[in-house]
Amino acid sequence: MPLTTGISHLTFRQDYFGDPAAFAALVALLHDTFGIDVGIQERFGGPDPTSMPFAYFDENGICVANFSAFSMPMMIDGRLVKAAGFQSGAVRPRSRGQGLYRDLMRRAFSWCDAQGCELGLLLTDKPALYEPYGFKILPQHRFSGLPPAAAMSAGVSRTLSLEKSADAVLVKRLLRQRTPVSSIFAVAAQAEMFLLNGGFDTGIQLSYLDQPECVVAWKSGEADCFRLLDIVGKTIPPLSVILDALDQRPSRVEVCLPPDRLDWQGTPEPFPSHTSLMVRGDAADRLRQPVMLSPMAEF
Ligand SMILES: CC(C)(COP(=O)(O)OP(=O)(O)OC[C@H]1O[C@@H](n2cnc3c(N)ncnc32)[C@H](O)[C@@H]1OP(=O)(O)O)[C@@H](O)C(=O)NCCC(=O)NCCS
Repeated sequence: MPLTTGISHLTFRQDYFGDPAAFAALVALLHDTFGIDVGIQERFGGPDPTSMPFAYFDENGICVANFSAFSMPMMIDGRLVKAAGFQSGAVRPRSRGQGLYRDLMRRAFSWCDAQGCELGLLLTDKPALYEPYGFKILPQHRFSGLPPAAAMSAGVSRTLSLEKSADAVLVKRLLRQRTPVSSIFAVAAQAEMFLLNGGFDTGIQLSYLDQPECVVAWKSGEADCFRLLDIVGKTIPPLSVILDALDQRPSRVEVCLPPDRLDWQGTPEPFPSHTSLMVRGDAADRLRQPVMLSPMAEF
């Protein structure tokens, strides 16, 4: 049963994605607030089933405020950490400044604590909003350098398109089977953000390598730069093998994740971004090395 709150005439609802009208109302809130269409997730099988949305709706079913948690197990310093991501935080302009978001944040953080989450993660352009709840900025670094010495790849590659259902099925299978791309800091299991980011940004190239079987997400950067965004597979190939399989001979490489599994080293450089990665929980306090969350896991 939805609970009615004392905050005007709004109704609080949690875990409401089973109701298509309520989910559509959230899609509208996020479209009106951020100009993004998270409805495209329907193409890939719908929203993350681990999502736990917290929201207020008005009497017409309009979603006035929302904040969601979802499960995002992380590999941190060689240890699997039970972690939650927080996203889709928005309040319609007319209802701001009345404590709705404070209420939803408290509910979401308490729910995750009760689930035994060791770590919370979020990306924001308003870090001050989350500092009172114990979130701290984790500076992100990309890794830059010369390409590795050329290597021979035993296999071949081909370009994938998430628009093609067979390719989407292939990517989803590998996402289910994936090894974390880094043992220092990487998503261990979470498919929906990879698919959503791959669908949103047409500049992202997805390439399938058959040996070892994996999907490489990458971009061609300025000045002949190869930018590696993620690798999804049971085995992580060395960077030299990836470049050969993709027939790429860049003058510079930029790796947007810790490169500890790539048999290559780059120089860490602060990653320029208008959003900050924030973490809550001590699992990240032990990190002694520069890290970056793969752009394919951004949420
Ligand atoms: C940011 C936003 C969600 C705040 O919603 P809200 O319902 O007006 O917030 P509340 O009234 O519950 O305020 C909660 C707290 O956040 C603070 N706060 C509100 N807006 C803030 C901002 N832009 N920056 C920093 N702190 C802010 C309030 O002062 C309040 O602090 P308090 O608990 O110490 O009193 C809303 O303005 C919004 O939807 N903005 C556009 C989308 C957005 O930026 N979403 C957040 C993405 S990370």
